[in-house]
Amino acid sequence: METFLTESPVDAAVFIARGGIVAFPTETVYGLGANVFDAAAIAKIFAAKRRPADNPLIAHVGSLAAIDLLAAEITAPARKFIDAFFPAPLTVVLPKSEKVPLIATAGLDTIGVRMPENLLAQEFLKTCGVPLVAPSANLSGRPSPTAWQAVYEDLNGKIDCILKGEMTEIGLESTVVDCTTERPLVLRAGAISLEQLRQIVPETENYQPKTGEAPRSPGLKHRHYSPRARVRLIKNEVEIAEREPQHEKIERRAYIGLNAPAGKFELIKICASVEEYARFVFAFFRAADAGGIDVIYCETVAETGIGRALIDRLRRAAE
Ligand code: TXA
Ligand code: MG
Repeated sequence: METFLTESPVDAAVFIARGGIVAFPTETVYGLGANVFDAAAIAKIFAAKRRPADNPLIAHVGSLAAIDLLAAEITAPARKFIDAFFPAPLTVVLPKSEKVPLIATAGLDTIGVRMPENLLAQEFLKTCGVPLVAPSANLSGRPSPTAWQAVYEDLNGKIDCILKGEMTEIGLESTVVDCTTERPLVLRAGAISLEQLRQIVPETENYQPKTGEAPRSPGLKHRHYSPRARVRLIKNEVEIAEREPQHEKIERRAYIGLNAPAGKFELIKICASVEEYARFVFAFFRAADAGGIDVIYCETVAETGIGRALIDRLRRAAE
């Protein structure tokens, strides 16, 4: 299959109408979309990404009214989050409507719903006229794509179309908050922080999987966000020499962080803020892989605001 590249949301929407799958930009990462009511199209997403069948997809809407097509009920906390934040890098998990095929939610009776803030995404969704399920548009396990070129790298020839937009603004996937439980539970950290959610619903908590319990968010158990290079988290550069002095000559090393390192690295990115770090980290992982880097050293940051989401992704990449 040849993948069609376009900057036109109208041209891209034609592929959705014909039962195809289309990558498109959002403010978080690029998504790979299909009509939420088209089970055959959704199956193509799982195949193209090589995504495990037990990992549910997020549904994206172009209007608040469309949420009623997807959810059997909008629970009280979800209503508050929607009113306070949507459109936003925030996904609310709700009881699923029977009209949504089970393949979309990997058999779960709940569905994650998000209204993206990115203007091209909104235009595309409105033109499609149906909500789109869309996981991140990367091969399963690879870093999420923050530019259309990253989508192309992973999925060219495997998907119908790429709607080309700008590099994404945030760079990390949306916050996922389960609103079907008595207290809302943050299943995945993102740009909308726990502190922000608590200002709207004070009972909101971070989800802590109990040992032996099936994870509430199936995606949490899969390998994620990983470059081919090994990822090491470090508090400061001194740790590198302390931990592995013998590797220094044979390894090709990269470094990303807020503070400039003194040592030699083949690839270095110094970020002016935690926001910039979050925005560029996945692209940096991909650049490191393209450059044949063996180890990527990632400086840790304070776990507040988007720093929490960043550390979460770095830890998973380092696993
Ligand atoms: O920012 C984002 O959320 C991006 C853009 C494209 O919107 N999408 C994204 O999708 O990151 P994906 O499939 O890569 O990650 C979705 C996460 C997975 O960890 C999945 O398990 C969880 O959300 N999830 C989806 N539906 C769920 C549900 N009904 N219950 C619990 N977790 C769910
Ligand atoms: Mg993903």
